[in-house]
Amino acid sequence: MKKLTEMGLNRTGVDSSPIDSKDIIGAALNSTPTSLDGDEEIGKIRASYIMNAKPLGTLPVPGTIKGGVSTILEKLAGNRPELLIDKLGERLAFERTGTRLYEAIVQKCRVLDSDRAGIPVATLERFRDQELRHFGLVRDALMSLGADPTAQTPAADAAAVASGGILKVVSDPRTSVLQSFEAILIAELADFESWDMLIRVAEEMELKEIAASFRGAYDEEKVHLETIRSWLSDLMLTKKTAVKESAA
Ligand SMILES: [Fe+2]
Ligand SMILES: [Fe+2]
Repeated sequence: MKKLTEMGLNRTGVDSSPIDSKDIIGAALNSTPTSLDGDEEIGKIRASYIMNAKPLGTLPVPGTIKGGVSTILEKLAGNRPELLIDKLGERLAFERTGTRLYEAIVQKCRVLDSDRAGIPVATLERFRDQELRHFGLVRDALMSLGADPTAQTPAADAAAVASGGILKVVSDPRTSVLQSFEAILIAELADFESWDMLIRVAEEMELKEIAASFRGAYDEEKVHLETIRSWLSDLMLTKKTAVKESAA
């Protein structure tokens, strides 16, 4: 039986060893600070790094533009097309990670028999398939704009770093269903907001077809978010939790 929270030999707090912790607190109080200037000096060093740092990455020049062929992107020239390509690249990477996230939670829930506890694996499989379809939508949008969907954009890079911990939590065999869903909630909140922003950017650029094709994904993301929220509240607030977290 895998319970939600178990009492065990957790020795991370000071109460687990009053004598040693007294020693450590005494040593900390008597030690000399490594910086006598507070945070001012380290602030100067950080500022110099920020001023001299190169950007996280660049956007590739679309192949069709390189060849001199007129593309929709060229028509958007005065309208920051680079922002759209950067954000599309980010969405593409996020949806790919979203598919992997759901694949990981599908496996975990299957092993823990979450169906019995009201978390149907079939629903999670549907969400996984939808994330994959969203990936395809963004890939198609990038290609219709003459951009290369295999290129990693700077925003994709930043988002991958930001969301790296989420995948680690869900794919860790030690984490519970509750802990995994809490991590997925972070992803779904970001997903929902990002689709909304992307649709607004596409509408502002008068890319009506792309904006329309994204609206279906936005509606599905809304369902993902509401469902994960509701399952989390079930896991947190009902006495069925122990059953839901139980392993065969
Ligand atoms: Fe998604
Ligand atoms: Fe989602």
